[in-house]
Amino acid sequence: MNELEDLTTLVRAATPLLVIETVDEQRVIDCFRHVISQSLRPLWRWTLIDGLTRLDFLQSDGDVAPDATATLEAIRGQNEGGIFLLFDFHSLLRYAMSLRQLREIVQRHRSSAHTIVLVGARIELPEELEALALRVPLSLPDIKELAGIMRGEAAAWQREQGRRVEVDGEAARTIVRNLLGLSAPDARRIVRKLIYNDGALGAADLPELMQSKFELLNRSGLLHYEYATASFADIAGVSRLRAWVQRRRQVFLDPAPTPMLDPPRGVLLLGVQGCGKSLAAKAIAGGFGVPLVRLDFGTLYNKYQGETEKNLREALHSTELLSPCVLWIDEIEKGLASGGGEDGGVSRRVLGYLLTWMAERKAKVFVVATANAVLELPAELLRKGRFDEIFFVDLPSPEVREAIFTLHLTRRQLEPGTFDLPALAVASEGFSGAEIEQTIVSALYDAVGNHGATDQAALLGALAQTRPLSVLMREQVETLRVWARERCIAAD
Ligand SMILES: Nc1ncnc2c1ncn2[C@@H]1O[C@H](COP(=O)(O)OP(=O)(O)OP(=O)(O)O)[C@@H](O)[C@H]1O
Ligand SMILES: [Mg+2]
Repeated sequence: MNELEDLTTLVRAATPLLVIETVDEQRVIDCFRHVISQSLRPLWRWTLIDGLTRLDFLQSDGDVAPDATATLEAIRGQNEGGIFLLFDFHSLLRYAMSLRQLREIVQRHRSSAHTIVLVGARIELPEELEALALRVPLSLPDIKELAGIMRGEAAAWQREQGRRVEVDGEAARTIVRNLLGLSAPDARRIVRKLIYNDGALGAADLPELMQSKFELLNRSGLLHYEYATASFADIAGVSRLRAWVQRRRQVFLDPAPTPMLDPPRGVLLLGVQGCGKSLAAKAIAGGFGVPLVRLDFGTLYNKYQGETEKNLREALHSTELLSPCVLWIDEIEKGLASGGGEDGGVSRRVLGYLLTWMAERKAKVFVVATANAVLELPAELLRKGRFDEIFFVDLPSPEVREAIFTLHLTRRQLEPGTFDLPALAVASEGFSGAEIEQTIVSALYDAVGNHGATDQAALLGALAQTRPLSVLMREQVETLRVWARERCIAAD
């Protein structure tokens, strides 16, 4: 393994301070056991409970109290240069005394050439220490190791239950592939749960696997797993978009690259409010048959002042580990206001990062961005080549309105055959899909209230009472449609 060589080199070079962000403490210990087998050095571990314990062949407990000052003093007093794995020590560095002591060790004032390794899930250091530290990424288990973990868990279950785990070979390989990106303990926990559910590993485990994996990866809280994707049968219109997705499905899902065809990367859906953009994003994930993950731009800016970019980077990286998947960026204009200036250039940098990521990402993450307010969108985002295609989701045509009535009447146990659909389509001129749905709902409420029926007259009455957005905001909607006709492909 490469990383072991790297660590060995770092230790040989007497690098004073390493930082490893991981929850997999055992893996860290294993790595350093390997390191000292190559380069003989005392290896110590520290935890708040046990204090310093020696881990190499001279195993022994240190008789130093586990508190920070005593520990660092003891390290400083050691004559022989050792490796000290300090688990969750970083929070103690808030104290001036500990900070100073550690700097003394690291800068080798009156102490031997120790290597201090700070280990924790997320380690933030005071600036003066960060400058002296070298952050080392700990690689995650590869396919072979993950397959070993799965075999180990299956064997453990068999010992315990006295029968074999039913394994579907093809599905088991898919499960192992989907564990990539997780640490060994996380992968083990998930596999164990999948086995204990039903004593089997099969295709039925995949949705739960993706969900558990998502929960582990979404540390920043910026991503939302959309459990309910939709199918193109749930959405009327958008025939071009549907055909576009269907034509690309095979290439998108094929693990082997297709010669001459780049895998599809993403679409931008622009459109009038309530005409089904969000629904279309869900249908695209359903059409590809992959998980749908939504990026919450609002949270990106609000929750982590000053850490916006780091969190975006992490969130986008997590989506790559979930691939193949659809990443849905809803109302992208809200996150990328082109005005700029007021937020210290953060949204500029966020846009820059997003565009670079979109251009360079190798993993199969299909981006679906949606937007209403096109005039607020930065021009860079609309430039050719960012998205595979920009679709415009317009107000529905009369035929599509009929189809929307059919869909939503059926969904509410009303028989579309008993309605005059063309007349409803005429009466709903200028209505969005969402507004049509709302009229049906309000007619239903009225009927319950007056003990009447939800019939043609009731629907026409409800339509007559509604002033659609395209009328209330005629100018905005018209501007958008004119703008889009020149620049986008109609989704229908
Ligand atoms: N073309 C359509 N076919 C079927 N249902 C539709 C259609 N358009 C809208 N609807 C109904 O309206 C609801 C709201 O639509 P959706 O949220 O997808 O619109 P949107 O374009 O994302 O709107 P917004 O701009 O407000 O986010 C949908 O969940 C669906 O029930
Ligand atoms: Mg929407």
